[in-house]
Amino acid sequence: MDKTQKTIGGMFDRIAPVYDLLNCVLSLSLDVLWRKKAVACLEIRDHERILDIATGTGDLAMEALRKKLACRVVGLDISREMMRVAGRKRDERNWRDRYSLIAGNALQMPLRDQTVHAAMVAFGVRNVPDVEGLFSETRRVLKAGGKFAVLELSIPPGRAIKAVYLFYFRKLLPRIGSLLSGRSAAYRYLRDSVLVFYTPHQVEDLLRAAGFTVVRSLPLTFGICHLFLAEKR
Ligand SMILES: C[S@@+](CC[C@H](N)C(=O)[O-])C[C@H]1O[C@@H](n2cnc3c(N)ncnc32)[C@H](O)[C@@H]1O
Repeated sequence: MDKTQKTIGGMFDRIAPVYDLLNCVLSLSLDVLWRKKAVACLEIRDHERILDIATGTGDLAMEALRKKLACRVVGLDISREMMRVAGRKRDERNWRDRYSLIAGNALQMPLRDQTVHAAMVAFGVRNVPDVEGLFSETRRVLKAGGKFAVLELSIPPGRAIKAVYLFYFRKLLPRIGSLLSGRSAAYRYLRDSVLVFYTPHQVEDLLRAAGFTVVRSLPLTFGICHLFLAEKR
C-alpha cells in the first residue's frame, strides 16, 4: 500500500470535512468510548505537556483537554485540512493556548528529545509506512517514565463476531463511506489497511523493539479495537 506522506496526507485532506461524521456513523460512536479509555489510562496530571500524534480533527486531544483542565496538548499531523477542522473545534472552546497544532511527519517529529510527559495516537499508526520508526520517534521525545497510549483497529478473534465484523468491514463499510463522503478510495483504503495491519501481538513486539515496556494490551469491544499502554522506563 502506498503510505507516503503525499498520498496519505492528500487523502485525509480530501475527507477532512466529513471525517467526524463518518467516524460517528461507521463506528456507531464507539470511537468516543475508545478515546476516553485511552486518555484515562495515561493518568495525565495538571500542567503536563501531552503529544497527540496524528491528531487529525482533534478528538483525542479534546478528550485529554476536557479531562485535565491544566494540561496542554501538542497535536501533530501531516494533513493541514484535518488540522484546520481541529483548529476550528479548539477555537470554539477557547483552547487556543492549550492545544497547539504542528504540521509534521510522525516519523520525523519537529520536537526536541524528552520534551513531552505522555504521548498518544488514535488510529494513526496504521497509516505510516514504518510503525517501529514511529514508536522510536515517540520514545525519543518522551521524558523518562512517560506513558504512551496507542489505539488502533483490529480484527476480533472470536469466530462468530469475526465473521460478522468482516462482512461489515469488507462489504458495508466501503459503501457507506463512499456514499456519505463521495470518496470511495479513502474508505477502500480504510478497509484494506485494517485487513493487512499487524496483529495486536505484533504491535506489542514493535513497541518492545522500539525500547518501550508494554504495560497493558487491551482488546476493546470484542477486539475490534485495541488499546496498548507502553512506558519509557
Ligand atoms: C484516521 S485519522 C485519526 C485522527 C485522530 N487521531 C482521531 O482519533 O480521529 C489518521 C490521521 O493520521 C494522520 N497521519 C497519517 N500519516 C501521518 C504521518 N506520517 N505523520 C503524522 N500524521 C499522519 C492523517 O493525516 C490523519 O489525520
